[in-house]
Amino acid sequence: MGQAVNESVPRLRDVFADHFLIGAAVNPRTIVSAADLLVRHFNCITAENEMKFERVHPTEDTYTFEDADRLVRFAREHGMRMRGHTLVWHNQTPNWLFEDRDGRPVDKATLFARLKSHIDTVVGRYKHDVFCWDVVNEAVADGGDRPLRESKWWQIAGDEFIARAFEFAHEADPDALLFYNDYNESHPVKRERIYTLVKSLKERGVPIHGVGLQAHWHLKSPALDDIRAAIERYASLGLTLHITELDLSVFEWDDRRTDLKAPTAEMMELQEQRYEQIFRLFREYRDVISCVTFWGVADDYTWLDNFPVRGRKNWPFLFDERHQPKPSFWKVVNQR
Ligand code: GLA
Repeated sequence: MGQAVNESVPRLRDVFADHFLIGAAVNPRTIVSAADLLVRHFNCITAENEMKFERVHPTEDTYTFEDADRLVRFAREHGMRMRGHTLVWHNQTPNWLFEDRDGRPVDKATLFARLKSHIDTVVGRYKHDVFCWDVVNEAVADGGDRPLRESKWWQIAGDEFIARAFEFAHEADPDALLFYNDYNESHPVKRERIYTLVKSLKERGVPIHGVGLQAHWHLKSPALDDIRAAIERYASLGLTLHITELDLSVFEWDDRRTDLKAPTAEMMELQEQRYEQIFRLFREYRDVISCVTFWGVADDYTWLDNFPVRGRKNWPFLFDERHQPKPSFWKVVNQR
């Protein structure tokens, strides 16, 4: 079981009950090791990896739902909502999907037939448990001349794969809220690319209901003004926004130091200020932001321990390695 949880600490989910859902990415280990924190503070979960294509559909004829089902049961038992993540992505997606028996690329019709079958099965299975899906993840390119990433999806199907994925998801569960989700979402160039993509989907009548801002941020970047501008720009499309993968790395992107055994006092202070500013902003935009999900629960486990530097510890959350609230937590709950 997890570490002892202090019962006198306010619950995040109560503090933000009138604002947005408070979510966490989980896996079969953290629903045990961080169970107490999850149940106390969060009212929404996302599967960190367990609903991704390669995990649920490793070969054409095999579906493996045990781990995803376990997370769904946890949400159900504790009255939590669940976000679905993710249906179409260039990572963690098996090669078989894009290839024929001889390893040659399939044509567009075959790819779409496989995608439809995948979406029908996965979205259909979790129809009553998953209230929204990140239908397409990270399709926009960070740089270069083309607005879309030159993934296998794009190489085989051109831009069309995006609209098709949303249509298939809507057919499989007409009640689910459907999201486009991406990182570097606050960078001005990528922001405009994401905005243009989503706008064109909306104008063409594609069933899309929200934009997911991943929010893998740092202590100094992106600038708060860029985050605000991104929120306003996406909200101007009349869609709901979810913050889908929030963490505040104590290292800037290009800081590749590996010698720290604990965060410095300066890092913790900056993180406190930054969490305060960011949640102040989220509160300000409560009418358009309906869910804020952290990409983990507490500092004892984060994907950032292995990215972008393998084996380097990071401390990105509101709860420390012993599951106790950090000063950042108090900044977030005590603001008026
Ligand atoms: C991206 C994906 C997530 C996760 C994170 C890092 O942001 O959307 O599913 O893989 O990277 O863990």
